[in-house]
Amino acid sequence: MHVSFQIAADLNRAVTSAALQAGFDPAGFSAEIRTADPRHGDFQANGVLGYAKARKLNPRAVAEQLVAALAPSMEGLCDLSIAGPGFINFRLKPDVLLQWLGRYGTVEMLRSGASALHQGQRYVVDFSSPNTAKQLHVGHIRGMVIGEAICRMLAFCGASVVRDNHIGDWGTQFGKLIWGYKHLRNDEALATDPLEELERLYKAADAATKADPAVLEAARAELVKLQAGDRENLELWQRINAISSGAFTEIYRKLDIHFDHQLGESFYNDRLNPVYEELTRLGLAEISEGALVVFHPEHPRFKTQPFIIRKSDGAANYASTDLATMLYRTEHFQADAIVILTDARQSDHFEQLWLTTQKWFGMTQRRLPRFEHVSFGSILGEDGKAIKTRSGDPIRLKALLAEAEDRALTLVNEKSPELSEAERKDIAAAVGIGAVRYADLSQNRSSDYVFAWEKILSLEGNTAPYLLYAVARIHSIFRKQGIEGPTEALFANATPPETETELALARKLVGFASTLELTTQQLRPHFLCTYLYELAGAYSAFYAADKVLVDAEPVRARRLLLCARTLLVLESGLSLLGLRTLQRM
Ligand code: ARG
Repeated sequence: MHVSFQIAADLNRAVTSAALQAGFDPAGFSAEIRTADPRHGDFQANGVLGYAKARKLNPRAVAEQLVAALAPSMEGLCDLSIAGPGFINFRLKPDVLLQWLGRYGTVEMLRSGASALHQGQRYVVDFSSPNTAKQLHVGHIRGMVIGEAICRMLAFCGASVVRDNHIGDWGTQFGKLIWGYKHLRNDEALATDPLEELERLYKAADAATKADPAVLEAARAELVKLQAGDRENLELWQRINAISSGAFTEIYRKLDIHFDHQLGESFYNDRLNPVYEELTRLGLAEISEGALVVFHPEHPRFKTQPFIIRKSDGAANYASTDLATMLYRTEHFQADAIVILTDARQSDHFEQLWLTTQKWFGMTQRRLPRFEHVSFGSILGEDGKAIKTRSGDPIRLKALLAEAEDRALTLVNEKSPELSEAERKDIAAAVGIGAVRYADLSQNRSSDYVFAWEKILSLEGNTAPYLLYAVARIHSIFRKQGIEGPTEALFANATPPETETELALARKLVGFASTLELTTQQLRPHFLCTYLYELAGAYSAFYAADKVLVDAEPVRARRLLLCARTLLVLESGLSLLGLRTLQRM
């Protein structure tokens, strides 16, 4: 039997057909293949337990029956054992590890192996999605880097991914912004730091409306004019959006973040009325205190706290545009899954949005895509409170990234003074930006985390510098051999892994496939981070225990193969996370 990229899937098929052979009831049995505790095996099948329990059978006896049926097809592939009450453990044979490592030797091979996971699935991923005319601050980074990583991973695993930046480019803030732009603008400041100036204008206009009711009235009038399609105000609105999106683009470029579409809230303006009408006609929406709302009687909170989909003054809100957005993504993009990233404070909104969409699409016989609100916690300062500058303002993302590069440059200058200045700067950019990014990705996104420069720039621990350094070190092994990179000829005579550390490393490498599955199922990049960190650890242990460049050709070949595949998986994994890797550091 040949193994595929996803060995867990091969085992699943084998166990399922063995269960049939052994006379199990196929409707009641599923193999439940999981990654195993490495002390016991590479994979385990847990399905016997539930199956036996439901039928009041002795699980151990059922497991033995299944193993007997399974044994012939596992010959040469795995060693089987039964543990505890009836778990079946699979230990891959060294030959199989060698076969897998030999086969998955390029990014293209890894990609084609992984593509079975989400093949034919279209995902619309809505991420970053900042509001116009506000500075990007550190809080915005999570949605950006997690979103980019999710897009890359899904695409790598075969999905067709539509990346949409759903900019908050419409709303009440424009009354004040336009009034401020007309009366308080400083053109010089607008040219040097446009976003800064827009933010100042907004704050100044806001203060003026509070101080003077006449200004408040004037700002309201500007908004009404804009909404009525006044030419001048529409032009100003466009100009403000263009300035703002130019500034966003600069940061996206720095962080290597890409979008296919930028359909902001305003894009949905003329798609809202049909939504109000349809939901009302279906009896889903009703007028309550002047607003159009949707109650969810089956929900403990939303039965009394409705989803407001049009405000009492008749204006659209966040919910209106999001309902229209769900429809557009389903119909226009033919989404199989819609993924929206925001911080966890918006959980109620998305729960209500999804409840409403399910009922609405159900009643109109529309195809219902899957929906995932990928939410995340906050970034905290070292004092455990929301991260702020010393003066109490939010930290600008631009400043944070600049500081990251500066700090990384100081480290590179110390460590590698022999490199040219251009090279040191290039390394510092990759390490600094990579460190900020990886610090975020390596945490379970549901939790808050503490941002600490020392920690994220450390060469030890689960950090970008540690992993980037591991990559550079493997490159240097090949360089020392006088070759720029690994070539397959080097491994032609490789024998199967043999020593304990070789075996542990090979098993870890094969585990890349299940890691991709888990990470893209749960849309949690930290699983991939943890895996890469453990892989680098297994590599270190191997490198410390087993000399690579020995005289015995087959041994050297298999050790070089392990080096080469570690390099490949580390580089591929880091690039899925959005990190740029380096040949030397
Ligand atoms: N602009 C929103 C904010 O800054 C995020 C938008 C997320 N996407 C969506 N379809 N609601 O909070």
